Amino acid sequence: MKELRALILAAGRGSRMKSSLPKVLHKVSGQPIIRYVMDAARAAGSLKTYIIVGHMASDVQNALGEDNTYILQKKLLGTADAVKTAKDKLKGYNGDLLILCGDTPLLRASTIKALVKKHRATKAACTFLTACVHDPKGYGRIIRDDHGLVVAIREEKDAIGAERNIAEINVGVYCFKSKELFKALQEIKVNKKKKEFYLTDIVELFNGQDVLVETVESEDSNEGLGVNSKEDLAAAEGVIRQNILRKFMADGVTIVDPKTTYIDANVKIGMDTKIRPFTFIEENVIIGKECLIGPFARIRPGTRIADKVEVGNFTEVSRTKIGNKSLVKHFSFLGDAQIGCEVNIGAGTITANFDGREKHITKISDNAFIGSGSVIVAPAKVGKRAVLGAGCVLTSKHNVPEGAVAIGVPARIMKGKKRE
Ligand code: UD1
Ligand code: CA
Repeated sequence: MKELRALILAAGRGSRMKSSLPKVLHKVSGQPIIRYVMDAARAAGSLKTYIIVGHMASDVQNALGEDNTYILQKKLLGTADAVKTAKDKLKGYNGDLLILCGDTPLLRASTIKALVKKHRATKAACTFLTACVHDPKGYGRIIRDDHGLVVAIREEKDAIGAERNIAEINVGVYCFKSKELFKALQEIKVNKKKKEFYLTDIVELFNGQDVLVETVESEDSNEGLGVNSKEDLAAAEGVIRQNILRKFMADGVTIVDPKTTYIDANVKIGMDTKIRPFTFIEENVIIGKECLIGPFARIRPGTRIADKVEVGNFTEVSRTKIGNKSLVKHFSFLGDAQIGCEVNIGAGTITANFDGREKHITKISDNAFIGSGSVIVAPAKVGKRAVLGAGCVLTSKHNVPEGAVAIGVPARIMKGKKRE
């Protein structure tokens, strides 16, 4: 079996996004759009991924980390030029090369696999993915001959007359025999209108040389969505969000109203946990089994919620751990807090975790009872079974010992009072 590697094009300016952030770093459901493409390539069997960077290259590299190989495209001279920059790195590589765009987050690994499979079965020099869409505007159109064989890809700007109505478009996902690819790239001429070298011109070139080009049509036309604008970004978010929710429901999570529930990509939720409407669960959150979350709750990154926990309305929880069977049912903010098991956090409790310069930790141990409207100024500790009276302010660096009762502003420990 031939080896498979992937090249992801991510050097473009993305000017249609009208943004100071590089296009591929815009997030959908908590993850940069290029991350979805990288994951799909890996899941489809690519053993190594090269990312072509250019516009704001160091920002892209820093955001995606050191696990990838980056290749710098110095001048943004088009998609063919971008691929050409990888020539040296791929010297001697004889396997198949996937070429993907960093802006197609809906692409599925199973589709890439189908593409590679056909590529290998037909022994084509290039096999690429097409999709039939309602609105082909902006995409390269697929030109076929009378026998249905693909002869060229016509870019939007160069399409004339009836070509503009062609609904079959180029998704921007290709599998190439790498030797043939780099040989042909030498022959691609600059597009006069855009002054760029188009990778898509390779199809017409191969055709003229009787080199076999094949296509695979994507089963789901959504999959071809290339994110070029903020409107496309919202469309991608909508599809990925539905996919995420569907997966949670299939795994036994109850989502009362998918239309008003937002869960990011990198989240785990246990069986029979119920998510009520208007709830946001952001990336890197783990929630256990049989919890009740929302309505109107916001669970932010780094939060770990154990089993049978309730987080109710108008509650924000950030970088916080909550133990089994604890309750935070109304109007609270918990930030950088470590909450034990069977703790009751009264309505309107605030952990004041930020002193203007740094964030501090609040520890509340098992079975503690925090009265309504309490403010805990971190760092602070509340011991096991301890009680904070309603409306008290526990000032920073103060501890309430096990079983003690504290009340008032600032909170004082009541002598002789103990909770068993
Ligand atoms: C491209 C295709 C088009 C296809 C569409 C699918 C070409 C000429 N056209 O058009 O047929 O329908 O994708 O979404 O290939 N890039 C670089 N260096 C460059 C230019 C672009 O790395 O010099 C990268 C971009 O960052 C992007 C990808 O290549 O990830 C595609 O570029 P983009 O400008 O978005 O191409 P489209 O006009 O969408
Ligand atoms: Ca694009």
